[in-house]
Amino acid sequence: MNTHLHITAWVLALILLIVVLILHKQGKGKGAKIVQMILRLDYLLILYSGGDLLANYIKGGNMLGEAIAKGVAGLWVIVALEMISVKTAKGKPAKSWWIQLVIAFLITLILGFGRLPGGFM
Ligand code: HEM
Repeated sequence: MNTHLHITAWVLALILLIVVLILHKQGKGKGAKIVQMILRLDYLLILYSGGDLLANYIKGGNMLGEAIAKGVAGLWVIVALEMISVKTAKGKPAKSWWIQLVIAFLITLILGFGRLPGGFM
């Protein structure tokens, strides 16, 4: 049940990042700031739902190592999202964080969908 919340939360984060970038590009700095704050609240939802999923593995034993690796990669995604939105809002280059976002996102997808058994419950 919590996988739905988890997936919804990180899909929302991607959408909110795109909205921040578009607003910034349109010169709507104030709007971008507000959406950045919403994005930060959404991180809490990702952390809560991911932490809850991780708790199942801590209780259950099997594949705990990969679940922890998944969580670390997920944290890396959040850091990259935040750095991209902050750098862009300040008009600074964010290229290295885009690269990290792609790498971290691929790792979370591979571990989350491919390796760990949760699936679309
Ligand atoms: C933006 C960041 C994140 C992304 C893109 C992401 C992505 C995913 C995906 C694709 C899944 C598979 C869903 C499924 O099995 O149906 C998943 C599951 C999971 N995530 Fe995340 N996640 C993120 C953040 C986190 C964080 C911060 C944690 C830990 C604190 C975490 C822990 C987990 C755990 C334990 C699972 C369960 C895997 C399973 O049972 O299949 N995730 N996540």
